[in-house]
Amino acid sequence: MTVQNIKLNNGVLMPEIGLGTWKADEEGLLAKTIKKAVDLGYRHIDCAKIYGNQVEIGKALKEITVPRKELFITSKVWQNRHRPELVADALDEILKELQLEYLDLLLIHWPFAIKPDSNAMSPTPEELDNVPIMDTWKAMEALLGSGKVRAIGVSNFNKAILEKMIPQCHIVPAVNQVEIHPYNQSPELVKFCQEKGIAVTGYCPLGGTKISVMNDDFIKRVADAHSCTPAQVALSWALSRGIIVIPKSTNELRLKQNLEKVTLTSDEKRMFAKIGKHERKVDPGRDSKELEWVFHEDKAKCPVI
Ligand SMILES: NC(=O)c1ccc[n+]([C@@H]2O[C@H](COP(=O)([O-])OP(=O)(O)OC[C@H]3O[C@@H](n4cnc5c(N)ncnc54)[C@H](OP(=O)(O)O)[C@@H]3O)[C@@H](O)[C@H]2O)c1
Repeated sequence: MTVQNIKLNNGVLMPEIGLGTWKADEEGLLAKTIKKAVDLGYRHIDCAKIYGNQVEIGKALKEITVPRKELFITSKVWQNRHRPELVADALDEILKELQLEYLDLLLIHWPFAIKPDSNAMSPTPEELDNVPIMDTWKAMEALLGSGKVRAIGVSNFNKAILEKMIPQCHIVPAVNQVEIHPYNQSPELVKFCQEKGIAVTGYCPLGGTKISVMNDDFIKRVADAHSCTPAQVALSWALSRGIIVIPKSTNELRLKQNLEKVTLTSDEKRMFAKIGKHERKVDPGRDSKELEWVFHEDKAKCPVI
């Protein structure tokens, strides 16, 4: 199965379907999954330092025969490496774990920093670090000349931050990776990014394990009409919006199904708007008042840009 590419704002081609790797860390399972996924036609793998599984991914990548230049590997700088002097080292650490000479895409994982000695997923106020996001971004821009990364972007960045950032960027982010599924459609953010030439990648495109989009009655009806699975409907809906998707599965049949797009009718696409409801799987502001601004722009206390 051949996956179509999306052309990023610097001309780099990115496959519109990739393999998510978060929480696929059961010993040995992820390596097996990556090899199987590549056999099935996946060429794009979404990684992150914080997932703690890049060493296993690196070993699996060493064992596959597809040439490196045919793969598209993304990883992400964790918040404890936002200080500009740490960003190049963060990339080197990632490359070492993945046993790669370069990444296709490096993202800033979240728009806030934590102190270098913290590794918290939900940081306390004391663990937050006051690093202006533009300082981190300038350090990311400097990496492009190193030959170690082909494109740079961001993740979990809201419209308010991007609006402040873009006029100051030498290089506009190529990608913004954000949570997108039928219950969190973010039409305004997607439109804004796409108008600015920032490709959108939708993470948790199936709602992850917490959000039951695949049990939605409307999605199930559309799946029946197309003789496909609810997952295929959710992924095809995102792809029809020009959004790159990175579903995670360790199951061979589901890996295969997730590559098979269906063509939704205009009526079906229109009716999707009715089931959107701002239901998120991932929200750091849920546990921390200091981070409410990340997704709740109205409560914006945006970080120093
Ligand atoms: N940038 C960020 O902050 C961020 C945050 C979260 C996630 N991500 C990235 O996005 C990726 C995807 O998100 P996610 O893993 O949370 O959620 P997801 O891909 O929306 O959903 C994964 C869940 O759906 C199941 N599944 C997969 N295909 C299916 C199918 N065809 N039918 C039924 N169930 C299916 C999987 O189980 P099986 O494995 O058993 O199939 C797994 O339980 C992550 O792996 C990670 O790479 C990025």
